[in-house]
Amino acid sequence: HLSVQERIDRKRNAALIGGGQKRIDAQHKRGKLTARERVALLLDKDSFVEYDMFVEHRCSDFGMEEDHNKFAGDSVVTGQGRINGRLVYVFSQDFTVFGGSLSGAHAQKICKIMDQAMMVGAPVIGLNDSGGARIQEGVESLAGYADIFLRNVMASGVVPQISLIMGPCAGGAVYSPALTDFTFMVKDTSYLFITGPDVVKSVTNEDVTQEELGGAKTHTAVSGVAHRAFENDIDALLNLRNFFNFLPLSNQDPAPVTECHDPSDRLVPGLDTIVPFETTKAYDMLDIIQGIVDEREFFEIMPNYAKNIVVGFARMNGQTVGIVGNQPKVASGCLDINSSVKGARFVRFCDAFNIPILTFVDVPGFLPGTSQEYGGIIRHGAKLLFAFAEATVPKITIITRKAYGGAYDVMSSKHLRGDVNYAWPSAEVAVMGAKGAVQIIFRGKSNQAEQEAEYVEKFANPFPAAVRGFVDDIIVPSTTRKRICRDLEVLASKKQTNPWKKHANIPL
Ligand code: COA
Repeated sequence: HLSVQERIDRKRNAALIGGGQKRIDAQHKRGKLTARERVALLLDKDSFVEYDMFVEHRCSDFGMEEDHNKFAGDSVVTGQGRINGRLVYVFSQDFTVFGGSLSGAHAQKICKIMDQAMMVGAPVIGLNDSGGARIQEGVESLAGYADIFLRNVMASGVVPQISLIMGPCAGGAVYSPALTDFTFMVKDTSYLFITGPDVVKSVTNEDVTQEELGGAKTHTAVSGVAHRAFENDIDALLNLRNFFNFLPLSNQDPAPVTECHDPSDRLVPGLDTIVPFETTKAYDMLDIIQGIVDEREFFEIMPNYAKNIVVGFARMNGQTVGIVGNQPKVASGCLDINSSVKGARFVRFCDAFNIPILTFVDVPGFLPGTSQEYGGIIRHGAKLLFAFAEATVPKITIITRKAYGGAYDVMSSKHLRGDVNYAWPSAEVAVMGAKGAVQIIFRGKSNQAEQEAEYVEKFANPFPAAVRGFVDDIIVPSTTRKRICRDLEVLASKKQTNPWKKHANIPL
C-alpha cells in the first residue's frame, strides 16, 4: 500500500510527463514543444503556479474508464504566473494526451482560470494545440466549449485575451480564439479551420491542403483571422512576452508605462522632407511611425493583411499607444472593406483597454468599384467611423497629406471628438483631389488647367481646415514626437463618457 504522500507524488510526476515520453518525442519531432515547455518559456522563471494537476476525465465509455486511459491533469495544463513580473493566467493544451482534445474536465480547468482572471483582473493567454472535441465524450465536450465561449464573451473588454495557435485547432474549437482579442499562429505547424480538407472535398469537391486551407499564411494574409505568425514555438512565445508588455492587465488598469530612454522632446528631422512634393507619389507610413515612437519599436498587428492601413502598438515616452495609419505605399492608402474592419477592431481594443490612439492620415478616400459596393463597403466602412467616434481614450490625429472626402471624417477627425488634431504643411483637406473636383464642378468647360490651379490654391493645403479650427495647429513635422508626448501628458487625465446604453449597435 502507498501512503497518501506517495500517491500525491506519483500523480504529480505522472502529470508532468503528460501522455508519456513516446508522445513527447513525437511532439518534438514535429518541431513542437510540449505544453509544459511552452508555459515555462512564456512565463518568468519559476513563476508558474499550476492548478488542477489531479483532475482526470470522467468518461466511462469506449474503455476510457480504464486506468491506462486516465492521465493526471488530463489534456491541458492550467495556472497563473508572471510575464516580466506582471500577472497572467495561462492554459496550454497538451497534444500528448488524446491529441489535446477537449474533455469536460479539460474545459472545466480552462473555465476555472478564466473565472479567476476576471475576478482579479488579469489577462488570459491560451496556447492551443488540440484535436478538438473529445470524441468519446460527445455532448459533454461540446458543452465544455460553450462554457469557454461564454467566458470569452464575458471577458471581452474586461481583461485582454490572447490565443496562440501552436498545432491543430479545428471545428468548434476555432471559436474560442476567434472571440479573443488577438490570435497569433506558428508557421508550418499550426492551422485553424471549421472543417478539414477531407470534409471540404466531400462537400465542395475542392482539393486543398491543410496548410492552404487554414495555415498561418492563409489566416494572416487572406482571411484576416490571425493577427501575426511566428517562425516556431520559441519565436512565438518570446514575441508573445514582448507583446504582453504593451497591454494593461484589465480595463480598470491604465496602460503600462515603462522606463523610457528616448527623449520625449527628440526632434525627427527626416520628417520635414518625407512627404514627396508630388501628391501622387508614395512614401512609407512606417517610416513616419518608427521615426516618432520610442526607440523605433513598433509591434505591428496584421502586417500582411489589408496593408493599405497600418495598425499596431508602440510607446511614447514609455506609455503604450495604439497607432493607426493610412499606408500611401499600398493602394494609395485608400480605405476599403478589409482595411476598415482591420482598423475598427484595433481601435475598439485600444478604447476598451485605456490605450490612447494616434492616427496618421494620408487617405485619398474610399476605394470605388462594384466589388467594394457589393461587398458592403458602406456597412464595413461604417465600422471604422463608429469605432473612432465612440472611443473615449485620448485621440491624437496627424494629417500628413491627403484627407479627402468621407475618409477625412472617418480618420479620427475633430468632428469625431479628436482631442488634438494636427496638420503638417503638406496636408490637403478637401472633398477630393483637384482633377476630379474640377471635372465635376466645371464639366465641359474650357480652362480646366486654370481651374485646377485655382482649386489647388484654395483647397490643397491645410488652411481651410485650420481657419475653422478643424485642425488645432499646423506643425513642423520634425516636432511631431515632441508635441504628441506633451499632449499625451496633458490628456492623461481625460474623462469622457458616452450616454448610458445597454450596448451600442455597431454595424456588423
Ligand atoms: N478526440 C479524442 N481523441 C483524439 C481526438 C479527439 N478529437 N483528436 C485526436 N485524438 C487522439 C487520437 O485518437 C490519437 O490517439 P492514439 O495515438 O491513441 O491513436 C492521438 O489523439 C493523436 O492523434 P493523431 O490523429 O494520431 O494525430 P495527428 O497529428 O495525426 O492528427 C488531428 C491530428 C487533430 C488532425 C487528428 O487527430 C484529427 O483529425 N482529430 C479529430 C479532429 C476532429 O474532427 N475533432 C472534432 C471536431 S470539434
